[in-house]
Amino acid sequence: MAVINLPSAALLGALADRLGPRGLTRDPVEMAPWLTDWRGRYHGRAAALVSPASTDEVRAVVSLCAAQGVAIVPQGGNTSMVGGATPGADGDAILLSLRRMDRIRSVSPDDDILVAEAGAILAHVHEAAAAAGRRFPLTLGAKGSATVGGLVSTNAGGTQVLRFGPMRALVAGLEAVLPDGSLYQGLSALRKDNRGYDLKQLLIGAEGTLGVVTAASLRLFPAVGARAVAWCGIATPGRALALLRFLEARIGQAVESLELVPRVALDLVLAHVPGTRPPLAAPAAWNVLVEAADADLEGALGAALEAGLVDDAALAASEAQAAAFWRLRDSISEAERHAGPALKHDISVPVAAMPAFVEEAAAALEARHPGARVIAFGHLGDGNVHFNVQPPPGPGAAAWLEQRGEAVSGFVYDLVTAQGGSISAEHGIGQMKVAALARTAPAPHLEAQRRIKRALDPAGIMNPGKLLPLT
Ligand code: MLT
Ligand code: ZN
Repeated sequence: MAVINLPSAALLGALADRLGPRGLTRDPVEMAPWLTDWRGRYHGRAAALVSPASTDEVRAVVSLCAAQGVAIVPQGGNTSMVGGATPGADGDAILLSLRRMDRIRSVSPDDDILVAEAGAILAHVHEAAAAAGRRFPLTLGAKGSATVGGLVSTNAGGTQVLRFGPMRALVAGLEAVLPDGSLYQGLSALRKDNRGYDLKQLLIGAEGTLGVVTAASLRLFPAVGARAVAWCGIATPGRALALLRFLEARIGQAVESLELVPRVALDLVLAHVPGTRPPLAAPAAWNVLVEAADADLEGALGAALEAGLVDDAALAASEAQAAAFWRLRDSISEAERHAGPALKHDISVPVAAMPAFVEEAAAALEARHPGARVIAFGHLGDGNVHFNVQPPPGPGAAAWLEQRGEAVSGFVYDLVTAQGGSISAEHGIGQMKVAALARTAPAPHLEAQRRIKRALDPAGIMNPGKLLPLT
């Protein structure tokens, strides 16, 4: 059984000596912003915040901590939705921020590879790729603060998965410090490499429990000439999936995004996010945001209107309007946050089953918990929606969440599991879903994961309490 120790004064002194004044702080004011997660749901403590500036420094931190059995919590942009980068309340862990390691090490248009350090912010990766006439396609609402290391460690998805896949499809190589302080140097981005187990894929989505990702080789794609973005009003989620298949039949892989937005979500955005405007003349029960690259989206949508799949559509006439449509979509989480605490369920089921799931699960939940409201939005084409549940409005909301939250989430997860789905489509398990994973995952799946964890991190120092229900 792993034993986690409190960092000694000698260890803290050694870390301070190795990292210098910018590399370690124990000042509560400096540490405070990084001890609470983005949603304000988890509040942790840490013995120190260390901010190494190089892979060698990360190795030194991990080696020193490993020698004394001290826990490490890696953190990037602190945008986790599941408390994955927030330390526990005991205060024994070292919080390891990768934010100082933010260099784009290289961009190779011939290889179509960009090498970025773990602390590089996604928006900066986009800019660096664009400067070389290329594109890194993965994008999401938190692109201004989410970092490469966090995106890798959570196998992030976002709004372009439909065409390009999640991080697992976009990471060509990785550099990581393993729990004993040794270096996994796998940055060389070979298109073909069959030397056994793929350690890179094991580290992707490991949520920092198997080591610290320090850099990644990311796959680039040709820059888009013209992107077309449209906002459509539709009658049902079923029509949204039918629209996707209809568009694909006409413009094929040019369809890069298809995002479902229910009226309640759009109303929340319009109410809480300054400068937003209704995209259609009349509100629709359901909305779909579609993006296509270098294709005649207008013609394809015209045919969809004629076929009765779409009731109304607005094609962005400029980049600014396209950005405004995307802002409506990307601000849903922020708008929800303004509206007060809610239960978030980031779930997937097989794509074909998702439209019925959205309607039937929402109806079942609202019938069982009167006054609660489901807001299901997002990546319908991936079979993934954010099935969020707001408590009944009013002064009893906090108590309702406290008393019923677990049962409501359990109800959602049981419906998902019955359909062969996943309780975490893209946000990961973090600390929020450890118990739910233990309850819903098949025993052989959990046991295999535990064995991998024990093999690579026998002392259990890497991001303890996250991802895995340990026994
Ligand atoms: C999104 O798709 O907007 C994100 O995954 C965030 C969320 O679930 O709120
Ligand atoms: Zn999402």
